[in-house]
Amino acid sequence: MIKSENIKVCVFDAYGTLFDINSAVNKHIEKLGENSEAVSSIWRQKQLEYSWLRSLMCQYTDFWKVTQEALDYALNSCGIENNKLRGELLDAYMHLDCYPEVEEVLKDLKEKGIVTAILSNGSPEMLKAAISSAKLTDYIDVVLCVDDIKVYKPDPKVYKLVTDKFNISKEEVLFHSSNSWDVAGASSFGFQVAWINRLDKQKETLPFKPDMEAKSLNEVSKVFK
Ligand code: 2OP
Repeated sequence: MIKSENIKVCVFDAYGTLFDINSAVNKHIEKLGENSEAVSSIWRQKQLEYSWLRSLMCQYTDFWKVTQEALDYALNSCGIENNKLRGELLDAYMHLDCYPEVEEVLKDLKEKGIVTAILSNGSPEMLKAAISSAKLTDYIDVVLCVDDIKVYKPDPKVYKLVTDKFNISKEEVLFHSSNSWDVAGASSFGFQVAWINRLDKQKETLPFKPDMEAKSLNEVSKVFK
């Protein structure tokens, strides 16, 4: 259970939590046809794998490069060779849609006087573009990304960026993520964690559990009076 009276900062993962990662492919569904679903899911899976592999190999490159390399893998797997479409998909990824409830939830938190932040593996340029095209600039106080420390979530050094930035204890952070691996990382670090299980995914069998599970961000923001 979340101890809302302790929370000083609400922190959000970006991709899959605030921004709809499938919206890039959805904008080009006619051109991708029957490959749409495969391209979207392989793209995401490889993007995550490459970020983790690069962290483990100490071979950091920013998330935009990782995203491009992952898209190339996905297109190759589906036998698609089309540079124009590659460029269009990448442009759409820079300007993803946010999920329908996001603006209202962030606005509500701001009205309740709660500090809001994004903690993401995304590069500064990607996050800036996504926040601005989803019109969330007024509702996010701080954007923390991994570029300075050159390692990706779920390395604990990334979650520590939050406690260092705000000079607060781990229990004073409510971290929101739709990504179960990120939920495990944040919980293992010591944050209070809400898992936004948008797609009704199975629970991980790792010992690092969320304090709350919800279908959308709306349910979590209700814990604040
Ligand atoms: C993030 O935004 C990749 O979803 C992950 O950090």
